[in-house]
Amino acid sequence: MATPGIAIVGCGSAAPTTVLDNDTLGKLVETSDDWISTRTGIRRRHVASPDISLVDLAVQASARAITMADIDPDQIDLVVLATSTADDLFGSAASIQHAVGAKQAVAFDLTAACSGFLFGLVTVSQFLQTGVYKNALLVGADLLSRWVDWDDRRTCVLFGDGAGAIVIQANPDSPGLLGFDLHSDGSQNGCLTLRYESAERPLIDGMSANRGRYGFLDMVGKDVYKFAVTRVPETIEKSLFRADLTIEDIDWLLLHQANQRIVEAVAKRLKIPIDRALGNLSEYGNTSAASIPLALDEAVRSGRVKPGDTIAASGFGAGLSWGSAIFRWGL
Ligand code: ACO
Repeated sequence: MATPGIAIVGCGSAAPTTVLDNDTLGKLVETSDDWISTRTGIRRRHVASPDISLVDLAVQASARAITMADIDPDQIDLVVLATSTADDLFGSAASIQHAVGAKQAVAFDLTAACSGFLFGLVTVSQFLQTGVYKNALLVGADLLSRWVDWDDRRTCVLFGDGAGAIVIQANPDSPGLLGFDLHSDGSQNGCLTLRYESAERPLIDGMSANRGRYGFLDMVGKDVYKFAVTRVPETIEKSLFRADLTIEDIDWLLLHQANQRIVEAVAKRLKIPIDRALGNLSEYGNTSAASIPLALDEAVRSGRVKPGDTIAASGFGAGLSWGSAIFRWGL
């Protein structure tokens, strides 16, 4: 299933400047640098202070991507923000649209947890491949530090904050998105949640509204781990099949950054040398929808990923949801 017609021409990323390393985190919960780094590969994470919004970081990342793409923000037709932690429950994409000056663009949020960026890439590509739109800005941004329980060592050590963005263009001469594969399994929803907790608010006699609030991120880590190491290789193989490619055709493996052990297990199962797996877990931890574009941006700017390189990317997480896409970087 080759799907010609898009080119990814710009990328950018941003993270809060405040850094929380494992030793410092050990002052907050009973943990150690040894436990965290051995089990996850994470050494530090960036944490947004209360004066930093999701939109602030998303706009920084977007501006960098637009500059690299060398387009006028007026040319952008579509802005999609993949996030589970919007500043506004009504959506934050329109605030990004306004801040970057994409006056002509329609903007909306897309929520699929840690699969959000991957699902966004496929969604945006459909608009471009049908010829409806020419230029799109896709942002993946999350501030999970707002929603983890900082007293729960099982989860708070894993997550960090960040944003990444790409500019995608319709381009009949570029293959762009070569193949993709997306899945959801709501029967396993309880493995990873950030739930609304009900609270009764009496209105008048015999009538109440539900005026609760969102709780903490909760996760059955072992189940999510098993799910990831099984489903991720499967979905990448499906995307490769649809793209009529094999593992040997792939220059880089780019997985959602949840745990270095997951990255290593998937690379091993797919028989991809680990040095071809892009990543930055040690610096950022799990930044949810931001993790794929954040790692991509670093790899592009450092010169590791070069124009024409073929990348197999996979996102996985709450839903449960998972998917993959094979794409070329640049024109
Ligand atoms: N420091 C020290 N000890 C800890 C910590 C900690 N931070 N956290 C847990 N422990 C202890 C536990 O209490 C347990 O102790 P016990 O044996 O005395 O009960 C022991 O360490 C082992 O705990 P496990 O939970 O069994 O550890 P495990 O090896 O499964 O690793 C981990 C946990 C890292 C979370 C792993 O399961 C994992 O990576 N899962 C996948 C998570 C993921 O990928 N999420 C992605 C999606 S995120 C999204 O969509 C928003």
